[in-house]
Amino acid sequence: MAERQQQRILPTVADTEAFGRELAADLGAGDLVVLDGPLGAGKTALTRGIAEGLGVQGRVSSPTFIIARQHRAGQREGAAPVPLVHVDAYRLGGDLDELDALDLDTDLHQAVVVVEWGKGVVEHLAERHLYVLLSREPNSEVRTAIWEWVG
Ligand SMILES: Nc1ncnc2c1ncn2[C@@H]1O[C@H](COP(=O)(O)OP(=O)(O)OP(=O)(O)O)[C@@H](O)[C@H]1O
Ligand SMILES: [Mg+2]
Repeated sequence: MAERQQQRILPTVADTEAFGRELAADLGAGDLVVLDGPLGAGKTALTRGIAEGLGVQGRVSSPTFIIARQHRAGQREGAAPVPLVHVDAYRLGGDLDELDALDLDTDLHQAVVVVEWGKGVVEHLAERHLYVLLSREPNSEVRTAIWEWVG
């Protein structure tokens, strides 16, 4: 059963990254995270926090020229190490039938998969997913996150 929607105000990018670290504590192998929200909303910043929380290797950046970036598992406190697959579905134009078609080295069932612009594109890849919507006001650094487990 889906949990209740939750909301968080994120005044600075540091708060968004900290929120990502928090979310990571509840994420494990096979979990899918769908990040929604407009350009510059903070989807990559949130992914950076998730990556930190998971303790994976490599720096998170906007996967502009590649569709998916794979981060190998590293040290993780209090939970099993897990790799991260960071996907930008923006350039796929909703045409992603199977993420598996990307022929990644990482087994998605063994990884946490975070997909920017994934709404309406990747939900079928998992039985349930964590949906996070980031929104922003013009001329403000403040972001608002609304999130819930769906499915
Ligand atoms: N509260 C905040 N949370 C997140 N980012 C913030 C915040 N305040 C300012 N920023 C800035 O907004 C930008 C967010 O960029 P980011 O690349 O994370 O967005 P995005 O949603 O991934 O965009 P895109 O759709 O282009 O991939 C960064 O430059 C970041 O420093
Ligand atoms: Mg981004």
